[in-house]
Amino acid sequence: MIPQHFIDELLARTDIVEVINGRVTLKKQGREYAACCPFHGEKTPSFFVSPTKQFYHCFGCGAHGTAITFLMEHDNLSFPEAIEELARLAGMEVPREQGTGDRAEDHRPLYDALEAAAEHYVRALRHNHEAVDYLKARGLTGEIARDFRLGFAEDRWDGLISALSPRFDDKTLIEAGLAIRKEGGQVYDRFRGRIMFPIRDTRGRVIGFGGRILGKGEPKYLNSPETPVFHKGQQLYGLFEARKAATRLEQLLVVEGYMDVIALAQHGITHAVATLGTSTTRDHLERLFRVVPRLVFCFDGDAAGRKAAWRALEQALPVMRDGREAAFLFLPEGEDPDTLVRTLGAEGFREREATAQALSDTFLDGLKARYDAHTREGRARLGSEGAKLLRAMPEGLLKTQLVNDLARLCAVSPEQFARQTEAHAGHDQPPPSAVDQPVARPGRRPATAGTQRLAMTPARLALALLVREPGLAAGLKDWDYLAASPVPGARLLAQVIETLRTSPHLTTAGLLERWRDSDEGRFLLKLAQWQPPDAEDAPPARMLSDALTRLRHLHDEQRASELLEKASAADLSAAEKEELKRLLSARHGGGP
Ligand code: UTP
Ligand code: MN
Repeated sequence: MIPQHFIDELLARTDIVEVINGRVTLKKQGREYAACCPFHGEKTPSFFVSPTKQFYHCFGCGAHGTAITFLMEHDNLSFPEAIEELARLAGMEVPREQGTGDRAEDHRPLYDALEAAAEHYVRALRHNHEAVDYLKARGLTGEIARDFRLGFAEDRWDGLISALSPRFDDKTLIEAGLAIRKEGGQVYDRFRGRIMFPIRDTRGRVIGFGGRILGKGEPKYLNSPETPVFHKGQQLYGLFEARKAATRLEQLLVVEGYMDVIALAQHGITHAVATLGTSTTRDHLERLFRVVPRLVFCFDGDAAGRKAAWRALEQALPVMRDGREAAFLFLPEGEDPDTLVRTLGAEGFREREATAQALSDTFLDGLKARYDAHTREGRARLGSEGAKLLRAMPEGLLKTQLVNDLARLCAVSPEQFARQTEAHAGHDQPPPSAVDQPVARPGRRPATAGTQRLAMTPARLALALLVREPGLAAGLKDWDYLAASPVPGARLLAQVIETLRTSPHLTTAGLLERWRDSDEGRFLLKLAQWQPPDAEDAPPARMLSDALTRLRHLHDEQRASELLEKASAADLSAAEKEELKRLLSARHGGGP
C-alpha cells in the first residue's frame, strides 16, 4: 500500500507536461499542449495535455488520465511501478505502509553498498590499462562504458572490501553478494580480475553485478548470487538503460549476453536486454510486456538455439494476449548479436531484426517439424500437442486463428479442434496464474463514452466544474445535505467536496487518483473532459453556484415526494414531519 498523502504530494510535485514530453513531442497550443496521440494512429493532433488540470485527453480515441495513468498506459507499467517512476523523476522515495512484502527501508544498506561498489569498480577501471584496452579491443567507447557504468574488479582478495570499509561492514557486503566468508571466517571479494557490469533495476538502482574474466578463464562470467534485492529470474540486464535511451520504446530485443546488449548499444541499437544467464521466465515476459507490446527473441540458428526458442515460446504462449506480439530471430551459426552487429553494422542488423519470425509461425512450423502431418496418427499427435499448448493461452483472436490453423492442419473442423483446447478436467491444465488476468486498458477504448453526449444534470455539472477546478470547493457553503440526498450524483459530489475541503491543494489529477479503478473514478474522468458549451461563458464559480441552487431544488422536490409517500403510510418521525413542513412551505412560498 502506498499512502494516499504520498500520492497527493507526488502529483503536486509532478508536471504532467514534463512526463509526457519526454515520450511524445508536445506543442504549446493556447493554455494546453497538443500532440499526435500516442495511443492511436493519427496525422493531426487531437491529444491535449493540460498543465493546470495535470490531465491529458484525446478527442480522437478517448484516451485520458493523469500522469500516473499515462505511464501505466504508455509505458505499460503497473500502478506501483508508475508511482515509482514518478517518484524517481521527482527525487522522492516511495514510502510503504506496513503489510507489504517490499520493505525498501530494510534494504537500504544493501543498495548503498552496491552503489558504492559500482563507484569503486568504475574508478578502478580508469586505473587499469589492461581492462581499458580489453574493452577498446571489443569496440567499446568511453561513452558506452559510462552509460552502462562499466567497471573493473582488481585481481586482489580485498580490493573492494578495503575500499568500502569501514563504511560498510563485512556482513552487509556478504548480504549484498559482494563478498564471501571462508570456512575459517575470513572474508574476501567475490569479484576479482573481472570487467564489471552493474545490473540496475527499473529505478536505476544497482542491485547486482555480472563480471567477465579478462581474457580466458573459468568461469567466463560470474554473477551476483540471489540476494534480498537481486532475483535473477526476474531481472533483465539493460532494461533500465534501454528505457533511458528511448523516447518511446516500441519493442525490445531479448538477447543472451551482457556483451550483446552493450555491443548493440555501441552501434545505436539501444533496445536490447539480456536475461542473466538463465532461460527466459514467465516473470521476465510479464515484466517486458509491461514495457513494450512487442518482443523479439534472439537465438542461435543451431539445434540448441531452436530448442531454446521453443522453450521460450512455451513460456510466452500463456502471456500472449491480443495486442502483444513476440517474434524469433535466428542468428547464423557461430554468431551472437555482438559479432553480428559488428559485421553487419547497425542498418544490416536492423534489417535482419525486421525478418524475425512471428511467434505463431514458429509455433506452427515447430509442430510441423516435430510430427508427421502426412499420416492420421502424426496429425493426431501434432494436434494434441498443439492443443495442449494452446490451452495455456489466453482467449483472443490470436488463439482463435491458431485453433483454425491447427484444425486445418489436422483435417478437422475448427469446432472439433477447439474442443481439444478446452480444459478437460484435471488434464494438462496449467495452474491459473494471476499474471494471466487481462489488464483493463481504458486508454485504448474508443471514445464511445464522450462527455459531450453526457446529459449534464446539475449534479454532474457541479462535479465537472469541481473536477476541472478543484479550487472552487473552497467557497462552498451548506452542502452537507448532499451526503444523504436521494438525487443521483449528490453523494459523490459530497465526497468530492469533502475531499477537496480536507486536501485543498489537490489538482484535478490528484483528485481523480483518489477514485482510481472505481466506477465513480471512471465517471469523474469523463466529467474532467467535459467542455462548457461555447454559449455558456459564465465564470465557473457562478456556474457552480447556479448548479448547486438547481441541485438544492431538485433535492427538495425529491425529498418532499419521498416524505409525502411515507406520510401516506403514516410512519413519519417527528423530525421528518418538521422537515416536510419546511419543504412544502418553501415549495408554495418562494419556489421558482
Ligand atoms: P556466452 O558464453 O554466450 O558469452 O554467455 P558472451 O555473451 O558471448 O560473452 P563474450 O562475448 O564471450 O564476452 C552468454 C551469457 O550467459 C551467461 C552470461 O550472462 C553471459 O552474458 N554466462 C555465460 C554465465 O552466467 N556464466 C558463464 O560462465 C558463461
Ligand atoms: Mn559473445
